[in-house]
Amino acid sequence: MTAQIEEPNPLRELSPQDLRAHAAEALTRARARSAVLTDAVDDEDLVRQHSKLMSPLVWDLAHIGSQEELWLVRDVGGREPLRGDLDEIYDAFLHSRADRPSLPMLGPADARGYVREVRAKSLEILEKAPLDGRRLTENAFAFGMITQHEQQHDETMLATHQLRKGEPVLHAPAPPAAGPAKLPDEVYVPAGSFTMGTSAEPWALDNERPAHQVFVGAYYLDTTPVTNGAYLEFLESGGYDDERWWSPAGWEYRSANGIVAPRFWRREAGTWWRTRFGVHERVPAAEPVLHVSYYEAEAYAAWAGKRLPTEQEWEKAARYDPVSGRSRRFPWGDDEPRPEHANLGQRHLRPAEAGAYPAGASPLGVHQLIGDVWEWTSSDIHGYPGFAAFPYREYSEVFFGPDYKVLRGGSFGTDSAAIRGTFRNWDYPIRRQIFSGFRCARDAREEVS
Ligand code: AVJ
Ligand code: FE
Repeated sequence: MTAQIEEPNPLRELSPQDLRAHAAEALTRARARSAVLTDAVDDEDLVRQHSKLMSPLVWDLAHIGSQEELWLVRDVGGREPLRGDLDEIYDAFLHSRADRPSLPMLGPADARGYVREVRAKSLEILEKAPLDGRRLTENAFAFGMITQHEQQHDETMLATHQLRKGEPVLHAPAPPAAGPAKLPDEVYVPAGSFTMGTSAEPWALDNERPAHQVFVGAYYLDTTPVTNGAYLEFLESGGYDDERWWSPAGWEYRSANGIVAPRFWRREAGTWWRTRFGVHERVPAAEPVLHVSYYEAEAYAAWAGKRLPTEQEWEKAARYDPVSGRSRRFPWGDDEPRPEHANLGQRHLRPAEAGAYPAGASPLGVHQLIGDVWEWTSSDIHGYPGFAAFPYREYSEVFFGPDYKVLRGGSFGTDSAAIRGTFRNWDYPIRRQIFSGFRCARDAREEVS
């Protein structure tokens, strides 16, 4: 057995007062984002279902409050329910997104009042709750979990905005352009073991645990996510119509749904255009492709003579430092993400060009693993060896199995509080309203010396 080297962690170094301040700040930042997303539209728009795939925005908002009430007010705080009558309406497992509009939901003013009231209580509880003794409160885990929950729903609400028809209501500056360096197409990763997952990250969720050693054979990984320009070559050469590149399930999906291009793309007079948060623009060649399903990613990779990386390959490229032999928190090291590292947090309303974040590259020289676009991997979502659901099975355990594919790295719509080198997202292989893209991998023969 190789000894597991635990990554150093800034959160574990904080005094209790500083930890409370850090948690309060994270919760407050998440709420500011929820406000941006829900204040951008009028009441009629908030209660409307913009797509069968999504909840009305006002459902997400009150659901955020309901989860916070459950875990922070009732469980951690030991308080009486504020609104026990809402538990059922906002239980995501009792109602599919398609059915949510028919629920007796709180209206916009009541939903805003409810989340405000819950938040006042949680912050009061955070001031006093012991931050040790119970696993739920150790290192303020429950506060971190609820922060991540709100940020995850904020990204979902951002996807609802993308599906919404009408004039732009969200605005943000353009992301940085690609740097001057010409990057190699691929990076070689030699065979060897690395530490996958974490036992040291205080706010890591159950499916990221525990840290364990994984042997990964030699492979090549694309230096950056696949760009629109590269994807257009696949598309223009008839890739969508050539069954050779598609898996049987992918071909069936593409045929049954008339899929001919990434979602939100349209061809006009021989040029590809896209709609992005209400803006109609030419598809930018240098930007990572966005809004593709797993099946499209898989077909592109086959056309390119490659394949999608496994989740293990993705994480090794993102975390393994060959000099120290250690797995780090992020590609650039153990520091929290800063704006020069990655395109995160809805700071920009689009992915940045491939090569735009040289400061965020991993020791192996892989770029933009964090931020820009979620990256499809070829792996199904499963628990790691020694997995234990915590604090509730419905966060991830109930999704384990062959129905969902793992996505890694976060998108421009993922907040830094909700992403890590170890973070695991998952979705159905047909999904493409999410901020999904991909990069390719291929097998490498062991280099013999
Ligand atoms: C982990 C992003 C797949 O949005 O369905 C939100 C997160 N879980 N509320 C989702 C989640 C419960 C989840 N994903
Ligand atoms: Fe939720």
